[in-house]
Amino acid sequence: MASSRLLSFFILPILLVLDPLAPTIVGHHTRGACTDKADYCWSCDDNGGMPTFNNASNNGGIYRENLNTLLSSFPSDPKINPIFYSSSLGQAPDTVNAIAVCRGDVAPEDCRTCFKNSVPILLQYCADQKKGIIWAERCTVRYSNISILGVLEYDPLQNVPSQRDVPNAEQYKQARDPLFEKLSEEAAAGDSDLKFAAGNASVPVTNETIYATVQCSPDLDKQNCSDCLKKSISEIPGCCGTVGGGRVLRPSCYLRFESNPF
Ligand SMILES: *[C@@H]1O[C@H](CO)[C@@H](O)[C@H](O)[C@H]1NC(C)=O
Ligand SMILES: *[C@@H]1O[C@H](CO)[C@@H](O)[C@H](O)[C@H]1NC(C)=O
Ligand SMILES: *[C@@H]1O[C@H](CO)[C@@H](O)[C@H](O)[C@H]1NC(C)=O
Ligand SMILES: *[C@@H]1O[C@H](CO)[C@@H](O)[C@H](O)[C@H]1NC(C)=O
Ligand SMILES: *[C@@H]1O[C@H](CO)[C@@H](O)[C@H](O)[C@H]1NC(C)=O
Repeated sequence: MASSRLLSFFILPILLVLDPLAPTIVGHHTRGACTDKADYCWSCDDNGGMPTFNNASNNGGIYRENLNTLLSSFPSDPKINPIFYSSSLGQAPDTVNAIAVCRGDVAPEDCRTCFKNSVPILLQYCADQKKGIIWAERCTVRYSNISILGVLEYDPLQNVPSQRDVPNAEQYKQARDPLFEKLSEEAAAGDSDLKFAAGNASVPVTNETIYATVQCSPDLDKQNCSDCLKKSISEIPGCCGTVGGGRVLRPSCYLRFESNPF
């Protein structure tokens, strides 16, 4: 199981390059294939401007250089909090702002590994664009030419349903709704190092267990964290209302539920 996940993690980028239909490019927005089989998914855009190609004689070249330097420093940067990094590099208009957050229950060394694996993929697909994000199973790494620290960002939004339909969707909902409500409150009440909560609940009648986690970027304030999670919870009926699990991914917050521990 672990090795097949690892495999899809490394093989998928190659498939994306070989498949002319993926990544899909819509306007100046690029997005990777985000399925429950892939352990990461990514999205980039130009923050309203034109695409900036890797061209050393224009600003795109300097921006890209700053981006490379900044993101490459993340896995080894000896900061106090090993699962949350925030940093900026370069002078306007080539300033790059980046944030990297690991899931709250990930050990520091696994967190570093997640950053180390995710950064090259983000650089490969997004470095020609001013803004990018990659969601891996255990971490999120994002950057922008606009300041992002402490800023509530709902978009891009990515819903990733698990594939298994459950016959008792209404009973799942009865267990899931109060669980997410409780976990959201708990996460929002976290401090500036960690806004994370995990828990489980029993599905009525069948006794199946739902496992869930929620997390905000810890630089958000309590109200914004709570608003972000509320908005993500409201995605569940459309995303994952009839299946046994799924993820709602945004830059500022993350939620996931499954019928197995994860
Ligand atoms: C960010 O990049 C976009 C696209 O190039 C540009 O239009 C915008 O002015 C930039 N913003 C900042 C703060 O540099
Ligand atoms: C590189 O950028 C310069 C200045 O913006 C432009 O004149 C030139 O055509 C670009 N070259 C390529 C290969 O895109
Ligand atoms: C929430 O986020 C917004 C937008 O990023 C920001 O302007 C605001 O200061 C934050 N805090 C509150 C309490 O709304
Ligand atoms: C389920 O949640 C309870 C607390 O509500 C906790 O004690 C227990 O360890 C959790 N079980 C798992 C498998 O996470
Ligand atoms: C559900 O789980 C509880 C506690 O584990 C147990 O006491 C009960 O018998 C179970 N009910 C069914 C229908 O399996």
